[in-house]
Amino acid sequence: MQKDFISIHDLTPDEFQQILNMTDNMKKHPHRFRKSLKNRILAMIFQKPSLRTRMTFEVGMLQLGGEAIYLAPSDIQLGSREGIFDVGKNLERWVDGIMLRTFAHRIILDLAASTRIPVINALTDLLHPCQAMADFYTLGEKKGGRTRLTFGLTFAYVGDGNNVCHSLMFAAAKSGTKMAVATPAGYEPNPEIVQQALEDGNATGFSLKLTADPAEAASGADAVYTDVWASMGQEAEKEKRARIFAPYQVNAKLMSHAKSDALFMHCLPAHRGDEVTDEVIDSPNSVVYDEAENRLHVQKVIMLLLMGKKEKNKHE
Ligand code: CP
Ligand code: NVA
Repeated sequence: MQKDFISIHDLTPDEFQQILNMTDNMKKHPHRFRKSLKNRILAMIFQKPSLRTRMTFEVGMLQLGGEAIYLAPSDIQLGSREGIFDVGKNLERWVDGIMLRTFAHRIILDLAASTRIPVINALTDLLHPCQAMADFYTLGEKKGGRTRLTFGLTFAYVGDGNNVCHSLMFAAAKSGTKMAVATPAGYEPNPEIVQQALEDGNATGFSLKLTADPAEAASGADAVYTDVWASMGQEAEKEKRARIFAPYQVNAKLMSHAKSDALFMHCLPAHRGDEVTDEVIDSPNSVVYDEAENRLHVQKVIMLLLMGKKEKNKHE
């Protein structure tokens, strides 16, 4: 594993699978790990709001025997009150890892380069890798049978070609999952990410269909995933996007194109009545709260891998 966890693209397929396998063990036997990060401290920097990410990182550190310190957007004012480089250089003197939720992806790359302690990506405008790890763990748990492998399953993403969509494409590529993405024109996934995912998926059995037709993407799918139409930072575009994305709502009609037992997935928070109807998100095939729970288990594994082994850093 590299020093940081910034993109699923940076993992080898074996590392990707290792995290998912370890998550199984972490979820089944949490007590075995209750001292694994004893005396370790995680700094959590949030430049955007959060429920799941804050709770799962903080609860995760507590369950591993460590501690987490929350830094709100107004606390350190990353990049304005103090430059990113100096923030990284200070934090490495006190804590053992940094979790960052921010805007431009460049900010997390700069922070990771500035510091010798691990940096974990808790969402940027470009990627949301912890989410996609939890989502593919959930997909394997529900549909992967005893092996929990998602190889050969068909995974549909409908909506905005955003940070969550990008990380899901990388997860599908690493795991050999067939993926279809339906977006309106002008809201397709970033072409560079598409290219990288295709390269990652060359040897795994991954395939990617990009379409503007949500029914085509959902057709025969084992799971249908959607996310908000306006992400954090895009609030000013909310109304315009609501008009453009209306045909991409995941409702019972759209789900009828997928397999009869297809899962419904969403990273949450959901805007019920916009990208998904109550009927779908509250249906027995919806696994949205399992995804939220699995954030905890998968992130505990990521923190353990990055922060657990080395007896070095601030006391050197
Ligand atoms: N899915 C997710 O990251 O949720 P939060 O924005 O509440 O952290
Ligand atoms: N795409 C959403 C995900 C929230 C977890 C956003 O960036 O706001």
